[in-house]
Amino acid sequence: MRPTPRPQTYRVKSFGCQMNVYDGERMAELLGEQGIRPAGDDEDADLVVLNTCHIREKAAEKVYSDIGRLRREDGTSPLIAVAGCVAQAEGEEIMARAPAVRMVVGPQSYHRLPELIAEATEGRRAIDTEMPAETKFGHLPARRRAGPTAFLTVQEGCDKFCTYCVVPYTRGAEVSRPHADLIAEAERLVGAGAKEITLLGQNVNAWSGEDAAGHQVGLDGLIRDLAKLPDLARIRYTTSHPNDMSAGLIAAHGEVEKLMPFLHLPVQSGSNRVLKAMNRSHSAESYLRLLEQVRAARPDIALSGDFIVGFPGESEAEFAETLGIADTVGYAQCFSFKYSPRPGTPAADMAGQIAPEVMDERLQRLQAAISRHALAFNQASLGRETTVLVERKGRHAGQWLGKSPWLQSVHFEGAAAVGDMVRVRLVQAGPNSLHGEVLG
Ligand code: 5AD
Ligand code: SF4
Repeated sequence: MRPTPRPQTYRVKSFGCQMNVYDGERMAELLGEQGIRPAGDDEDADLVVLNTCHIREKAAEKVYSDIGRLRREDGTSPLIAVAGCVAQAEGEEIMARAPAVRMVVGPQSYHRLPELIAEATEGRRAIDTEMPAETKFGHLPARRRAGPTAFLTVQEGCDKFCTYCVVPYTRGAEVSRPHADLIAEAERLVGAGAKEITLLGQNVNAWSGEDAAGHQVGLDGLIRDLAKLPDLARIRYTTSHPNDMSAGLIAAHGEVEKLMPFLHLPVQSGSNRVLKAMNRSHSAESYLRLLEQVRAARPDIALSGDFIVGFPGESEAEFAETLGIADTVGYAQCFSFKYSPRPGTPAADMAGQIAPEVMDERLQRLQAAISRHALAFNQASLGRETTVLVERKGRHAGQWLGKSPWLQSVHFEGAAAVGDMVRVRLVQAGPNSLHGEVLG
């Protein structure tokens, strides 16, 4: 392959979860430090990073079609780097099949992008899907920019090995970042304007570390220390596993004012037989008991979850148990997915794979229930006076959009700016958003 001029401009396209958004931002910061600038909206970038997701169906196909779309009219392509979880799982194959791809970099090695770019511009194809013991974080530039809401990865990887899931293979083993590094990164984010920080991890509530006094603490300890940052107004965390929901973390929901009344706690299924086949190591009952404790600590908490329908062998009666748990909890919001067999996971080889039309029909019924509960939750907050953190302008002139403490999208009209904390009364509710009136 011929040498290529060094790229002047980049574009990072992130797919999938919030951690990919975070990784995408860090890659952008790294490229910026290399003197490469973001391409303008109508500008053709010299370097395109596809930051991919492997969690569900057709992940690789999507990457190939994205690569195809990057082809210019004259037949050339920008320098393309495939990053993220598809790179980790299928990087070598992508390199072999898509000549336009010049770099492949996994989620644990993207700090090496500058070296990979150097190799690629010299005409070599560069691949790095290592999972080094020393993490990438120490090699990334300090954070300089942040919007009013920012993500902060505190924990990465997963040791749970749910039988349907690729994450333990693509993101590696559970690793917690050190307490001091996280406080330092949070301070930078707040200094750059962040009012709200969402702590991220595949099993964020499995985070543990040593605080400044040398005490071993869990996520609740980290949250309590972050709450001491004067200009930080809100703390959130996602995604949690039921088995890592400690008593201390539950108590923090009742005690730490800056910790927002919202919990995303996936259950996946309401059937104990299916949960066992999924290797979830909790039951429907133990999950419900946990939520009761959380509600006792913070009665107004908004609950969120993830569900998979059509796991191999799922019977109609077992699916009915899933509908049952959704009704019992009354989630404020929820994500639900059709089971997708992922290569290399145990469930992909299980007997009793469910027909697509059965999955479609189950998903529709579950989503109808979820949206009924979301509407009920929002309607129950009508009349409430609360604070909205403004994230952006709304669709109409003079309209602003932000989030309530319960992570509801709220729009309102009035004088405001991005980053403001505006007091409103909630006056209208739909399943996905609410309207607020600014309080005097
Ligand atoms: N098929 C469908 N959904 C999946 N998830 C993870 N793996 C799969 C899969 N193979 C869902 C789970 C998880 C969320 C991030 O994605 O619900 O909590
Ligand atoms: Fe995947 Fe289960 Fe780990 Fe979540 S806990 S990342 S679903 S293996």
